[in-house]
Amino acid sequence: MSTSPRQLFVTTALPYANAGFHIGHIMEYIQADIWVRFQRMQGHEVHFVCADDAHGAPIMIAADKAGVTPQEFVAGIAAGRKRPLDGFHIGFDNWHSTDGAENHELSKEIYRRLRDDAKLITTKTIEQFFDPVKNMFLADRYIKGECPKCGAKDQYGDSCEVCGAVYAPTELKNPYSALSGATPVMKSSEHYFFKLSDPKCREFLRQWALAGNRLQPEVANKAKEWLEGDNGLGDWDISRDAPYFGIEIPDAPGKYFYVWLDAPIGYLASLKNYFNKTGRDYDAFMADPTTEQYHFIGKDITYFHTLFWPAMLHFAGMKVPNNVYVHGFITVNNGEKMSKSRGTGISPLRYLDIGMNPEWLRYYIAAKLSAKVEDIDFNPDDFMARVNSDLVGKYINIASRSAGFIAKRFDGKVTSDWATDADPFLASLRGAAAEIRTLYDQREYGKALRAIMEQADHVNAYVDANKPWELAKDPTKDAALQEVCSRLLEAFRILTIYLKPVMPALAAQVEALLNLPPMQWADIGVPLPHHHRINAYQHLMTRVDPKMLDALFEPPAEAAPAAAIEAAADSATIEELAPEIKIEDFAKIDLRIAKIVNCEHVDGSDKLLRLTLDVGEGRLRNVFSGIKSSYQPEELVGKLTVMVANLAPRKMKFGISEGMVLAASAADEKADPGIYVLNPWPGAKPGMRVR
Ligand code: MSP
Ligand code: ZN
Repeated sequence: MSTSPRQLFVTTALPYANAGFHIGHIMEYIQADIWVRFQRMQGHEVHFVCADDAHGAPIMIAADKAGVTPQEFVAGIAAGRKRPLDGFHIGFDNWHSTDGAENHELSKEIYRRLRDDAKLITTKTIEQFFDPVKNMFLADRYIKGECPKCGAKDQYGDSCEVCGAVYAPTELKNPYSALSGATPVMKSSEHYFFKLSDPKCREFLRQWALAGNRLQPEVANKAKEWLEGDNGLGDWDISRDAPYFGIEIPDAPGKYFYVWLDAPIGYLASLKNYFNKTGRDYDAFMADPTTEQYHFIGKDITYFHTLFWPAMLHFAGMKVPNNVYVHGFITVNNGEKMSKSRGTGISPLRYLDIGMNPEWLRYYIAAKLSAKVEDIDFNPDDFMARVNSDLVGKYINIASRSAGFIAKRFDGKVTSDWATDADPFLASLRGAAAEIRTLYDQREYGKALRAIMEQADHVNAYVDANKPWELAKDPTKDAALQEVCSRLLEAFRILTIYLKPVMPALAAQVEALLNLPPMQWADIGVPLPHHHRINAYQHLMTRVDPKMLDALFEPPAEAAPAAAIEAAADSATIEELAPEIKIEDFAKIDLRIAKIVNCEHVDGSDKLLRLTLDVGEGRLRNVFSGIKSSYQPEELVGKLTVMVANLAPRKMKFGISEGMVLAASAADEKADPGIYVLNPWPGAKPGMRVR
């Protein structure tokens, strides 16, 4: 591996802007983000960007249904991107849109070069189904009819779900438009094509895709089939007729680029947009032959990225990708249908909302990933086992066994005068660095984490052999205790560097604990100095609670409308509104975010729980709350809620209550006896005022 700094441009696939992220998107971002963080830790310069894939018929139709313009529709989707990205610590430098000005310009520029310089654009007249009501040509997925083979009704234009037959939409019996129901008519139109059948395209692609072990073996095999197959490469239809949400083709009124033409150009557009914002020279960066370009994608879009995209770039005279890294799909419980009450998917937002640690998922996904195009499965039991026994049990354990003693007994000071270069314990730990580095670089994260956990096992064996908790009992063994704990913290420091690409937030916490600036890979060889002072130990990571996993599996999608109808029916019976107040009246009530630091049963009360609340005042408050029927004390500890902070203290049978916690309940207790404590969205901090 080269040691001089490299310049890398890295992307993930651009998600369609028709919905929020699903777990598959997050998995792809985690895979790429780990690689990017790893490369940055080596001292390389990495620019990591993504964007919304805004164009195409499905988005246009969805916007139409929602009664908004496609631009408004896409903006709404874009507004929801930040929370999950930040939540899972995905560190994109920029998020843009394929409908941005940069993409319009770049797409037209590339097209002109392909047409005028490479002479690879041609036109052909094709016949296609047309919806006479919607006045638009219909893509195959918008045509339905009876299967030509078995006669099954309402089958899509490309294949039959009943008998499995594959056919052309023109073969359907009694075809109709899935958009309007109208009978489609055949209509001809001139389409623009990228001449992939030109021998120079095949020659270039053979060179790019098949020579030199560039692609993953499975991907290269696919590319070989596509390139060497009987049919060879056909010309690629890159135009769509109006109405279409996309980029107009230069000198071709009423014709738009097919979404897959301008989508990958969105990679460049996002980088350009980012460079323009930060005052860097995009043209110089992309013209620099040392700039390396990598795309992380899922297996379903390999064709576009290993054939069309490199060919477009090459024949437009631009830099071609150094590589395309293809991953498999993530399934949940092997895609098995779960019970009615438990859904099948995992919503990334729900994961965050119920307070699950994003780095558990990063660790778990990384532990399952390899450089192969393999599907991986999210399995709740496996998830819990890996996080609780590997991550917390093996790694966090090392700090919790040692940091406290150093802080409490030795004024926070570690020693390292015992260390020698030949120290066998730390030498083995540092010696693993080269292998771990190679594994990360090759995207063999599962193997990297196994190698790291193997090192953690050695460290834990040292813990068990030296038992710091026993040394701590004997005052004559202070020096030994300090040495053992210092050694353990040094080991923990090195393990943290190894894990940092996967768990950046945890690494930052460890850096704060160890009182160190952000650690790079090279810091593996830079031990904690003699008498370096660390900070007080605070718990670094909790275990996964099985209750969280129950909560994670959302109810199935079809239950949602029913629930919504029920909720609407309920609205007839809600409690009557209180008399109107003025904003001044509301302002008298001081609502604050409170952290529930402790929660206990109250002896002798079957209604109350005793809460200890932190409202950021530098003192804690005691509050009694009538929520015992709905919560176990341990469910509430550590959670945030909202309290009335300026309520006069009230003397109760069990003590003084210094405020009130907000909770919702139904007017009719028999209909719903539940009491629901309020819980702010992530980001709120104790002491913040609610207004
Ligand atoms: N808009 C195109 C990509 C254009 S790139 C110039 C697209 N969008 S997508 O939203 O459908 O998919 C985005 C990425 O998510 C793709 O890389 C796709 O393979 C990936 N995944 C979609 N479902 C997935 C899983 N279940 N698991 C892992 N990745 C999956 O395709
Ligand atoms: Zn059929």
